[in-house]
Amino acid sequence: MENQNPQTPPSFWKRLGSLRVLFLLGNVSLMVLFFLVIVKDHQREWKNIQADFKKQEIARIEQKFSDANDQDHSLIQEELKSAKRLPIEIRQIWSQEINAIDRCITCHLGHDPLANPSMTTSYQEHPFKAPANSAGFDIHKAHNVEKFGCVVCHGGQGLATNTQAAHGFVTHWEQPLLRGALLQASCLKCHDNIDELNIQNKNFSSEIVRAKVLFNEHGCIGCHQIGGEGGPISVDLREETSKKTVVTN
Ligand code: HEC
Ligand code: HEC
Ligand code: HEC
Ligand code: HEC
Repeated sequence: MENQNPQTPPSFWKRLGSLRVLFLLGNVSLMVLFFLVIVKDHQREWKNIQADFKKQEIARIEQKFSDANDQDHSLIQEELKSAKRLPIEIRQIWSQEINAIDRCITCHLGHDPLANPSMTTSYQEHPFKAPANSAGFDIHKAHNVEKFGCVVCHGGQGLATNTQAAHGFVTHWEQPLLRGALLQASCLKCHDNIDELNIQNKNFSSEIVRAKVLFNEHGCIGCHQIGGEGGPISVDLREETSKKTVVTN
């Protein structure tokens, strides 16, 4: 007996046709995704920041060129050429001495010796802010950027490349950007005598000096040790801050 089903199955060509439509739709959406990825990649925050820096830097040197006399022109032209060649890329400091990889200079180009060889350009705007005239000028100058990076003093998340995450203000990152007294406290990882160091801004170490007085006044040393000295009842408070290897030369 034959099956009397009146509905005949779609012909081979018809089925192929609908497969083709599917295939076409799939390809179109892949193309769209592909271009979206390119556009998104171009819109990364740090890329805009670097492009902006480059534009400002070229404008600054061109101004210098038109202000200078003839004999300085060839030198400034070289400077202009290297500014125009400045690549838009992730920049990082890899310090083997303190075992740190910091990408802060991807945005803070004022602190990048490659982007800003003199380290004293007029960039007083964040994130380019170069040391000149900033409160941390002499402190930055005393520590070679290549050797110290940034996080060892400032805190934050060295590897991140967007502002929020790099400054450590995201969940599950325990080391946010330090400010004020907390920034001072990070100096104690390496310096016992911060109040004796030659720092231009004398107000800078005020909080550390006050903390030392309070620590003595309240007899914390009776229970806590600092670098092995003091009572054995609780944790050595220096250990908390001395997890990082310290450069001593
Ligand atoms: C994606 C770009 C970007 C990266 C990466 C970045 N920053 Fe910033 N930073 C900014 C911008 C923009 C500002 C100014 C606006 C603001 O404060 O959010 C700033 C401001 C600052 C300031 C001064 C103001 C403040 O909030 O205290 C410090 C200090 C600083 N950054 C340190 C760091 C350190 C340290 C790192 C690396 C761990 C870092 N930044 C990485 C973009 C960046
Ligand atoms: C040895 C410690 C140390 C290191 C290393 C260091 N900084 Fe600083 N930085 C300071 C201090 C201290 C200040 C002054 C902050 C103040 O006065 O509140 C400062 C100031 C700044 C400021 C200006 C903040 C403001 O409030 O305007 C920026 C931006 C900055 N540093 C970025 C960087 C970057 C980027 C790096 C790495 C390339 C870096 N710093 C490395 C200690 C350091
Ligand atoms: C990772 C260790 C480390 C940290 C953190 C650190 N320093 Fe230093 N600092 C050094 C070393 C090492 C030198 C000696 C210079 C060198 O070897 O580059 C130095 C030199 C200095 C000097 C110049 C020397 C002098 O006697 O005047 C000053 C000032 C100074 N540091 C202040 C600070 C301040 C303020 C902070 C905190 C914001 C700080 N340092 C954080 C390691 C550190
Ligand atoms: C009577 C003893 C005693 C005195 C005095 C004392 N502490 Fe403590 N402290 C402790 C004990 C116990 C803990 C808990 C340690 C633990 O969690 O194992 C502690 C914890 C701490 C911690 C947290 C440490 C960590 O790693 O979790 C800090 C910071 C601290 N004390 C600072 C101070 C300071 C600053 C003073 C002086 C103003 C002080 N303590 C005085 C007994 C003392």
